[in-house]
Amino acid sequence: MATLDVAAEPSAEQRRFDEIIAADSRIEPRDWMPDAYRRALIRQIGQHAHSEIIGMQPEGNWITRAPSLKRKAILMAKVQDEAGHGLYLYSAAQTLGITRDEMTMQLIEGKAKYSSIFNYPTPTWADMGAIGWLVDGAAICNQVPLCRASYGPYGRAMIRICKEESFHQRQGFEILLALMQGSDAQREMAQDAVNRWYWPSLMMFGPPDGDSPNSAQSMAWNIKRFSNDELRQRFIGMLVPQAEALGIALPDPELHFDEKTQQYVGGEIDWTEFFEVLGGNGPMNVERLRARREAHEDGAWVREAAAEYARKKATRNSKEAA
Ligand SMILES: [Fe+2]
Ligand SMILES: [Fe+2]
Repeated sequence: MATLDVAAEPSAEQRRFDEIIAADSRIEPRDWMPDAYRRALIRQIGQHAHSEIIGMQPEGNWITRAPSLKRKAILMAKVQDEAGHGLYLYSAAQTLGITRDEMTMQLIEGKAKYSSIFNYPTPTWADMGAIGWLVDGAAICNQVPLCRASYGPYGRAMIRICKEESFHQRQGFEILLALMQGSDAQREMAQDAVNRWYWPSLMMFGPPDGDSPNSAQSMAWNIKRFSNDELRQRFIGMLVPQAEALGIALPDPELHFDEKTQQYVGGEIDWTEFFEVLGGNGPMNVERLRARREAHEDGAWVREAAAEYARKKATRNSKEAA
């Protein structure tokens, strides 16, 4: 039937969008985009922003107890960078038509996700090393390809973020290196932290490819460039020589070099743990949200003062202009 043919024909706007994606070019905020693309980006960028902000907590826990002034200064700078990453990303998401307030409420009401990795505790100083080396390291592997994401504001935010993430990874490596060159107790502490963070860091790449519902569409839209398993594999390959340089063991007895594929291959990941933590049953889920909610409430007066200042300034400007 003719009417059906007309319905199946993509609109001029949709064709233009498809052309931009096919040319591997960028979609900008004022361009038309399909609703599903907009929703997928709001979800992904929002989750990413929340992860940066919640991710400040496990490390913020050690700022007052850093072992030296130098370590304290570095850790403060690192945690502050994460706040900055959250802000760039909230701004990128806002260009898609959601407000910062809406996103904040989704987070503190427990309706939005953030990376499960931040629901683990940080009991020792060596956790600062393991987080920088493994968690920021995994973040880099995930995020470098996002610098080419098809949505302009997201890709541009990622370029700046990745530069800072590589500093974060090196500072984590350097903390572990100092511990590994120290006493037996320090070496044990470093190894223990790596034992606890290694598997969760591999889970940061998300479920195996066969089990990852949004991946195929994200790849078709040029948001995602590599599959979860490809990125995880790349990360393991990056870690092995670094672990050797540190003299630290990666806690996977099955990890070996496969001559055929010329890649390091590891043992099976325990996904039941991943889904437990994702489902809110991780050791720190409740605490992380409680702390975020409290910080939001404690910050109310700052938001009010800033809004009042902006209002006065606007009135003054309009009087001067008159
Ligand atoms: Fe970050
Ligand atoms: Fe980072």
